[in-house]
Parts: sequence; C-alpha cells; structure tokens
Amino acid sequence: MEARKKQFPNPSIPQHVGIIMDGNGRWANFRKMPRTSGHLEGLKAAKRIIRAAVVRNISFLTLYAFSTENWKRSEQEVSFLMGLISTYIKKEYPFYREQNIRILHTGDRSGLPEKVTNVIDEAAAYTASHTGLTVCLAINYGGRNEIVRGMEKAFKLHAIADSAAGSDRHALENSFRNFLDNPDIPDPDLIIRTAGEKRLSNFLLWQSAYSELFFSDKLWPDWKAGDLDNALVDFRNRKRNYGGIDN
Ligand code: IPE
Ligand code: IPE
Ligand code: MG
Repeated sequence: MEARKKQFPNPSIPQHVGIIMDGNGRWANFRKMPRTSGHLEGLKAAKRIIRAAVVRNISFLTLYAFSTENWKRSEQEVSFLMGLISTYIKKEYPFYREQNIRILHTGDRSGLPEKVTNVIDEAAAYTASHTGLTVCLAINYGGRNEIVRGMEKAFKLHAIADSAAGSDRHALENSFRNFLDNPDIPDPDLIIRTAGEKRLSNFLLWQSAYSELFFSDKLWPDWKAGDLDNALVDFRNRKRNYGGIDN
C-alpha cells in the first residue's frame, strides 16, 4: 500500500473516476456463453476495481451499470440485470463495512423497479457514515435525463427566475449544478470506457465538460487492478488547461 502511494502521489490521483463498463456481452459471445454470464463476470470486475480504487486513494468512483437506453434490450437481459444489481448491492454489506465504502445512486428512480430503489436506499442509508471511497452507482442513468430532471426540479422551486437567466449566466451555471443528482460530488477528473468504443453513451454529460477521457480496448470482465493503473499513469501525464493557457 505504501509503495502504491509513492507511485501515485496524491495531487496526480484523480479525485473522481467514472467508468463506462462496456463489453460484457462480447466477452460472453467470444466464449459462446449467454450475455448474462458476461454480466456476472462484469460484476466480479467491478468488485476488483472498487477494491483497487480504495487502495489507490480515489475518493469517488461512478460506475455506469445501466443506462436509460438499456431498456431497449431483451426483457430477459433487462430483468437479469435488475436482479443482479439488486442482489449484489444487498449482498455486499460486509464488503462496504470492511472497505469503509459509501454507496450513492445517480439516475432516474422513477423508471426503476421498487426492489431496486429499495436496495439502493437501504445501502445508501447503511453506508452513509462511511468515510472512505464513495461508489456512485449509475442505474437507469442518462445524462440528458439527469439534466431534464434537474430543470424540472428548478422550475418547480421557481429557482430559476426569468430575469436571472439573462443577467448572470455563470451564476446560473453554478446554481444549476445543485439540481443534478449528486451536486456534492466533484466532476469526474477521469472517465474510462472499456471495450473499444469511443463515445460517452449519455454518461455524465454535464459533469464531463473537462474530464480527461481514457479508452481501453479490453473488455470490462477482463479488467484487473493493473488496467486501472494504466489509466491512472496516463491521467498523470495529461495537462489540464480548462480553457486557459499554461504560461
Ligand atoms: C456493458 O456491457 C454492460 C451494460 C450495458 C449493462 P454490454 O452488455 O453493453 O456489452 P457489449 O457492448 O454488448 O459487449
Ligand atoms: C453504455 O454501454 C452503458 C453502460 C455501460 C451501462 P452501452 O453498451 O449501452 O452503449 P452503446 O449502446 O454501445 O453506446
Ligand atoms: Mg455495450
């Protein structure tokens, strides 16, 4: 653990990493197995990477588990995924305790089965006082959906007055953040997508404005701690300008 800390001194460690965990289906297809077994392996990879993130002192990890578009898949795959997600979240209490992990959710609750929202709420309540890694599970998550829900919340509260819109757009930008799902979580410094696709697929659209992007060809079920290290080394060598100039 000490060696790891030396290898990745704190300032260059991303505070928040988001992962688009892609390639479960292909992993299974290559083995002539059903897609569902790819998801089971993907779950094991998620646990490996959560452990690795704890050891590497990452503060926030957002895992894209199910998008607002994933309902387009077969009924069988969708219900398998919902079952897997709820069983896993519930089963891992000793793991959260042992690793001091806090669980949060991002995404549209209204479209989720009650058994899923219930386990999410229970896990969030159970881990609320944990002070280590925050694992934010993106389930029924879509960036556009999150922004539109944010707009609805803001309008309901009349928080965005007509006059404010024209007068100080920068202030509005900052206050709008409060209507997103987890305003207290900093924007992701690094977004990783596995399995070769180079797109965001509706992940953290607002928050990814200045995220560094890392694409890996490796399928998600094959991901090991060393793959996270490769992404972290790459991140460490990025120069972030945020639109300014490095004098
Ligand atoms: C990602 O793997 C997991 C989810 C979207 C739930 P996929 O299921 O998209 O795997 P591929 O892209 O078909 O290989
Ligand atoms: C993105 O993967 C969603 C998750 C990883 C949960 P998809 O496999 O759904 O993305 P597309 O359809 O290839 O863009
Ligand atoms: Mg995919």
